[in-house]
Amino acid sequence: MPTNIDYDSKIPNNVALADDRRLQRALEGWQPKFLNWWGEMGPELENQGVYLRTAVSVGRDGWAHFDHVNVPDYRWGIFLAEPTPDRRVAFGEHKGQPVWQQVPGEYRADLQRLIVVQGDTEPASVEQQRLLGLSAPSLYDLRNLFQVNVEEGRHLWAMVYLLHAYFGREGREEAEALLYRNSGSPDSPRILGAFNEETADWLAFYMFTYFTDRDGKYQLGSLKESAFDPLSRTCSFMLKEEAHHMMVGTTGVDRVVTRSAQLIREHDTLDIAACGGIPLDIIQKYINFHYTVSLDLFGSETSTNAANYYTAGLKGRWQEERRKDDHRLTDDSVFMDKPEGDGTWSQEEVPTLLALNLDLRDEYISDCKNGVTRWNRILEDHGIDFRLRLPHPGFNRNVGFASGHHITPDGTIVDEQTWEAGRHHWLPTTEDLAFVRSLMQPVYERGKIAQWVAPPVNGINGKPFDYEYVRLV
Ligand SMILES: [Fe+2]
Ligand SMILES: [Fe+2]
Repeated sequence: MPTNIDYDSKIPNNVALADDRRLQRALEGWQPKFLNWWGEMGPELENQGVYLRTAVSVGRDGWAHFDHVNVPDYRWGIFLAEPTPDRRVAFGEHKGQPVWQQVPGEYRADLQRLIVVQGDTEPASVEQQRLLGLSAPSLYDLRNLFQVNVEEGRHLWAMVYLLHAYFGREGREEAEALLYRNSGSPDSPRILGAFNEETADWLAFYMFTYFTDRDGKYQLGSLKESAFDPLSRTCSFMLKEEAHHMMVGTTGVDRVVTRSAQLIREHDTLDIAACGGIPLDIIQKYINFHYTVSLDLFGSETSTNAANYYTAGLKGRWQEERRKDDHRLTDDSVFMDKPEGDGTWSQEEVPTLLALNLDLRDEYISDCKNGVTRWNRILEDHGIDFRLRLPHPGFNRNVGFASGHHITPDGTIVDEQTWEAGRHHWLPTTEDLAFVRSLMQPVYERGKIAQWVAPPVNGINGKPFDYEYVRLV
């Protein structure tokens, strides 16, 4: 299978699409529907070109090319990472056997479901972010938004390719449904809760790309382990693109914290709302919200589905091959914390296989802590005592053990009254959201930036901050 990308055909690809006329025709039939969806649900702001990166090869280095592109002309395509010769199943009951190039009949429904759920998140985020271009704090940020959006569109292509190529008529129907469901729609919402929340302002966008795109990283990382090789290879390549989305989130929050810290020093008060900055307690509330809705994406702490996916070889653990155990887990157990009705936490021993969602979530949580550490270092460098933190994983949850309990950010189980009384200290209030929204005035002049956020330390692809990242109409 060639790994060079064919940009001459209607759908750029490195999967030799031209050799499979039926599949090519089917995908060419889906393409105009995708473009329609992009026109209706994609970014709102008109422009004459965005400095975007486009994949040119899937190899280790030099896979991206940068140029000004008219966004609707972006070449969305199908790119799989290079195959690993003689790759073997790394876990579960098929461990050691050659990986699969076709879908085994007994796993068809489960694999299709995993692909549809992942695929559904990709266009959802584009829909959630569609109005943000109207209030971008700089051309640099605007360019990053478009980059994230076009790549989420491409991730949709990645999943649709698998559905079309390996799941027959049902797969084609699911591919249509991915364009039919919409974020926040009352009748046909996106499958997962976090993808129906609106991303109403740029602080929410940075938090989303930090916390929610990072959930994507861990989901893709576990699907990359899959015995179904085409899924593994497509997730490998998606992970490369995903890294940029998280960079946007990490440095985005860095820049908000930096600017707030500067204003606190300058005016010698934490109450910087009047000087047009975002107070640290509002940043903390945004962290609390975006982190906890992202935790919900990992599903229930115990899950027989997750156990079955693992045993079947469909979905592995994060960095499966680096784990030092038998990769079957049939005899292992773990302890997990559980909230009880009497307001105490208990420990329960459960089979490791049933606790795989928790395993992935724990990997995610330790990764999330790195961001908080860097943001606190910025505060420390400015001589500010305030510290940001991740709330307890039981806080504000709608999925898993903690749903149905009222748990404070420090992990105390409280009654409803106490929860309601504390809520406005912990989660963004309508006033907080309105205030942050009031700061979101677009800045479209080259080299200029909104007053609530610091400029980036580095530009894109070595370009300076005042580069014309977006040519506006
Ligand atoms: Fe994605
Ligand atoms: Fe992403």
